[in-house]
Amino acid sequence: MLAQIAPYRESSDVTCNPVPFTARDRRALTLRLIRSSDAPRLEQLFSQLSPESRWRRFHAPAENIAAERITAQAALMADVDNRTHEGAVVVVAKEGVEEQIVGVVRLARPSGFPMAEEAEAAIVVLDAYQGQGVGSELLRQMIHLARHMHIKRIVAVFQADNAEAIRLFRKLGLPSKLLTSHGTSEMFMEMPATGYETHSCNQENIRW
Ligand SMILES: CC(C)(COP(=O)(O)OP(=O)(O)OC[C@H]1O[C@@H](n2cnc3c(N)ncnc32)[C@H](O)[C@@H]1OP(=O)(O)O)[C@@H](O)C(=O)NCCC(=O)NCCS
Repeated sequence: MLAQIAPYRESSDVTCNPVPFTARDRRALTLRLIRSSDAPRLEQLFSQLSPESRWRRFHAPAENIAAERITAQAALMADVDNRTHEGAVVVVAKEGVEEQIVGVVRLARPSGFPMAEEAEAAIVVLDAYQGQGVGSELLRQMIHLARHMHIKRIVAVFQADNAEAIRLFRKLGLPSKLLTSHGTSEMFMEMPATGYETHSCNQENIRW
């Protein structure tokens, strides 16, 4: 039984609709699928992450990267179809009429394999929003996205000492195994064939 994702309700499936979410400190947020117009917001998120969060997300020193490279990478990461090769769910906070991305989870199939059964997951939440339940909600929505993309297996890569992130993925309750080698842990998670309703958005109602 997947306590985190059942029962299925279309209104709380980010692949059908934007989903409202109230953080533990009562901040009102919204989860939705990423759009190509989110590129500048991804760039802003990256610039606001602490060095530790960048390191844990990207597994490499992310300081002193040329601005043009960050802009190009953000454009690539935002320009996905949420269906074949890559998809992402973002959490946004409203700042007046502007939206700020405060967290993102991404699913990417191996390059050149748009029909692969496996995809890699990567998540980051802006430091000022961590510990508020945002990461847990992003992962719950990642499961809907994985179903939407017909992904059968999810792999997430962590620094081996990133116990908090490993625990976060474990909380999903998916059958998983964790392999650790040379300071890196890989968690392989199987999507259930059953356990919650088959993804069933009414396509006419999709608002994103
Ligand atoms: C891992 C990460 C995504 C978690 O996001 P988050 O929004 O903090 O997650 P949640 O708020 O849902 O918290 C997860 C758990 O950690 C606890 N926690 C997290 N930060 C905390 C804090 N600052 N103070 C107290 N508790 C905290 C929460 O209580 C929660 O436990 P619970 O659900 O059992 O209560 C976030 O820390 C992050 O972006 N880290 C850097 C990137 C990374 O490590 N990515 C993973 C590899 S791709």
